Amino acid sequence: MKVILYAAITVNGMIAKKDGNSNWPSPEDFASFNAICRQSGCPIMGRRTFDIFNTLPFTEWPNTDGLHIVVTSSDSLSTSHPNIRLVKSPKQAIVLAQKLHKDLVVVTGGGQTFGSFLKENLIDEIFIDIEPLAFGEGIPFLSAGDFETKFDLIETKLLSSQTIQLHYCIKK
Ligand SMILES: NC(=O)c1ccc[n+]([C@@H]2O[C@H](COP(=O)([O-])OP(=O)(O)OC[C@H]3O[C@@H](n4cnc5c(N)ncnc54)[C@H](OP(=O)(O)O)[C@@H]3O)[C@@H](O)[C@H]2O)c1
Repeated sequence: MKVILYAAITVNGMIAKKDGNSNWPSPEDFASFNAICRQSGCPIMGRRTFDIFNTLPFTEWPNTDGLHIVVTSSDSLSTSHPNIRLVKSPKQAIVLAQKLHKDLVVVTGGGQTFGSFLKENLIDEIFIDIEPLAFGEGIPFLSAGDFETKFDLIETKLLSSQTIQLHYCIKK
């Protein structure tokens, strides 16, 4: 099973404005992100990102009418939605995806969750779409304490005249 991390970032490495707004990535990023989530059938997200998707109709979720795995340490969070599965850690998310015989999973954010998966060495490949803007303050791409990860560049691609996609694999 391959584990991909997919992020849209500003040129200064933010994934959301300080109020949590992440409506600024381009339509090309959105299309590429949705295509890979639907191909995988298994997006994984942190609880704060889940809180944001929870305000939207399910048709706007990364895997529309399919499975979503949510990582939370909380005992009080619960859901009866058949397409949402709650797990207690990044490792549990991977174990659940394996049990469900997924070939590909996509870690979809946010920053704390990206960092948690990288820190635990659970990621195989990364896609980063760099959008042409910066915010002085915001939510950083990777936030999970101290870790160091090395990458090998696989490909760079222009998604449009303005958006660059970097594709790396992780050196294990
Ligand atoms: N630009 C992008 O590509 C992109 C993608 C996704 C999201 N976003 C934005 O990112 C923002 C949210 O990011 P964020 O960093 O604040 O939060 P987040 O990563 O979405 O969620 C953090 C929460 O996930 C759970 N979690 C993460 N790691 C865990 C671990 N190792 N063990 C157990 N639980 C863990 C915890 O939930 P509990 O507190 O419940 O324990 C934690 O508080 C939103 O504004 C969203 O719009 C941007």
